[in-house]
Amino acid sequence: MTRHVYVHIPFCPKVCPYCSFYKEASDRNKTQPFLDAVLRELDMRRDEGIALRPHTIFFGGGTPSALTVAQMEYLLGGLRGRLDLSELAEWTLEMNPATVSLEKAKLLRDLGVNRISMGVQAWDAPTLETLGRVHTADQSRHSYAVLREAGFDNVNLDHIFGVPGQSPEAWRDTLRQTIALQPDHISAYNLTYEEDTEFMRKFQRGEFAQDPDADADLFEQTADLLAGAGYEPYETSNFSRPGRRCAHNLAYWRGHDYLGLGPSAFSTVGEHRWSNVRDTAAYTQRILAGEFAADFHEPVSPELRRRESIAFGLRTSDGVERAWLQPWGARVDELASLGLISTVGERVVLTPKGRLLADSVAEVFV
Ligand SMILES: C[S@@+](CC[C@H](N)C(=O)[O-])C[C@H]1O[C@@H](n2cnc3c(N)ncnc32)[C@H](O)[C@@H]1O
Ligand code: SF4
Repeated sequence: MTRHVYVHIPFCPKVCPYCSFYKEASDRNKTQPFLDAVLRELDMRRDEGIALRPHTIFFGGGTPSALTVAQMEYLLGGLRGRLDLSELAEWTLEMNPATVSLEKAKLLRDLGVNRISMGVQAWDAPTLETLGRVHTADQSRHSYAVLREAGFDNVNLDHIFGVPGQSPEAWRDTLRQTIALQPDHISAYNLTYEEDTEFMRKFQRGEFAQDPDADADLFEQTADLLAGAGYEPYETSNFSRPGRRCAHNLAYWRGHDYLGLGPSAFSTVGEHRWSNVRDTAAYTQRILAGEFAADFHEPVSPELRRRESIAFGLRTSDGVERAWLQPWGARVDELASLGLISTVGERVVLTPKGRLLADSVAEVFV
């Protein structure tokens, strides 16, 4: 039984210069056939034999909130009609502050969405401008109030640090302003320069620079500030109030099966992993012609799953079972002697120093 469903909505009000998620500028003509394709893909996967009773659903993107009220009603209503939601615990939808309205928020609540993840990124105008965001800080504040007014009691706010021109003081101030709003969950991502983005081109031309030591400092300050405000650091970039961890992301990190619908979406079911074509028109055309739209397939052996669970698990505050690491005995001793991991009872976790090098530590096991 597959318990986790992801739906990729590839439309954004405007494309941000740092982002490499698969998306395109919203296009009214493409949207309705795309919505039909997502529902059709779900039908095709079920006909193929994938049994679904979701515990979590995640609408990500792109910007799912770029859909109109009528389009949301069509897509989410269509999903509701097709899925057994009797065991659904968490239904998240990502929003951009520029695309929030009370009407949309109330409709989402009525349709069963119970968690919102909104990309505020920063509260100061210069950083928002560097990031090419379509919204102002005032708009983010207003949209957050709208979500609360609509009854959402589980809201995440996304942030980015290490942005060119963003001073450590500006970043701390962003965190303080967010803490004052008391969201239930906070994501704080270190800016990454992704292939094929305007930011990467500026980086390569020497217009933007990266300072890993400064970023490590910011990371430590972030964890301290948020822990002091009652947010538990449960994964490298994620902090939550008690009981508000993101169950969907935890399922990925624990290596559970998930079905992804929409262009570029990954799925892992049993010993098979695939991802759909990164092209909305091609995705829509293929699905509506009754063909699957995957252009990547990979066998997932229990051994690979184990390795991935270790790499992801180490990024979480729960760490991984000590017994799982037995095959890497000498490397584990080495990481411990470098002060990067430590043993707590039967589990191995990253130390604060290890958290700064989480990706390099994880690489040892994959
Ligand atoms: C799909 S977007 C969230 C929803 C919506 N599209 C928005 O931007 O408001 C997911 C999040 O990834 C983060 N992100 C995207 N590109 C990033 C990058 N290059 N480095 C760090 N974080 C990034 C941002 O914080 C963003 O809010
Ligand atoms: S950060 Fe969000 S709004 Fe900006 S391009 Fe990426 S998905 Fe779209």
